[in-house]
Amino acid sequence: MKINVLTLFPEMFTAVTGSILGRACEKGILQFQFINIRDFSNDKHKKVDDYPFGGGPGMVMMADPIFGALHSIGAQGKKILYMSPRGKTLDKEKIQELAEEEELTILCGHYEGVDQRALDYFDMEEVSIGDYILTGGELPAMVLIDTVARLIPGVLASEDSATEESIYSGLLEYPQYTKPRSYEGMDVPEVLVSGNHKLIYLWKFEQSLRLTKELRPDLFEDFVKNSKELTKDEHKVLEKVLK
Ligand SMILES: C[S@@+](CC[C@H](N)C(=O)[O-])C[C@H]1O[C@@H](n2cnc3c(N)ncnc32)[C@H](O)[C@@H]1O
Repeated sequence: MKINVLTLFPEMFTAVTGSILGRACEKGILQFQFINIRDFSNDKHKKVDDYPFGGGPGMVMMADPIFGALHSIGAQGKKILYMSPRGKTLDKEKIQELAEEEELTILCGHYEGVDQRALDYFDMEEVSIGDYILTGGELPAMVLIDTVARLIPGVLASEDSATEESIYSGLLEYPQYTKPRSYEGMDVPEVLVSGNHKLIYLWKFEQSLRLTKELRPDLFEDFVKNSKELTKDEHKVLEKVLK
């Protein structure tokens, strides 16, 4: 997937160009292009924002540098996302849909936002990461990029790991432990070191069910409603948790 990011702060994106996503770039699965919107300002001081017409607080990003930046990468007619608190909140269905795109272009706003004409002209889709306000669209864009990239085949070491995680599996994940077996008087649950794979699996399943029931009753209810395909053993565990 090719990901183009239009931003005033390209240097912030080192957070998504290293580690797992960095390896995906080396393998050619992901390709990033960061475009500094300021490079497309026609102003001698490289100004990219101005006061809002009609008054109001703060500054608004001008349409012209954004037009220039988008035309420079031939983005017209392609899928362009604008990170914005006005957008529909990102959820796993939207993330899956975006992961199937071959190319994504993401505009990061700043100040009070962006001249509406840039959004209208390029028919941008507004995407929010939640009902709160950040200073700029860079962190929201990185959240989107990171979570979308995890679903692209080959990005994670195992294809299963993306779908076995909390939420994607339909449940929250069971507690995890690593060495040492005993720490500050707390021992790893005996079953996890028993070597009995079936018992280990059923213990993890039960813990997932209990945690989900307690912390995310909405998810738990959905899981119970759709639990037709459980094995006999899984069914017994579910009955126990439901009591
Ligand atoms: C301070 S915000 C502007 C908020 C805008 N004045 C409003 O009230 O809707 C600056 C930029 O941060 C980004 N941003 C802020 N909160 C966001 C959120 N929850 N989701 C996605 N992007 C967000 C957007 O790109 C926005 O243009």
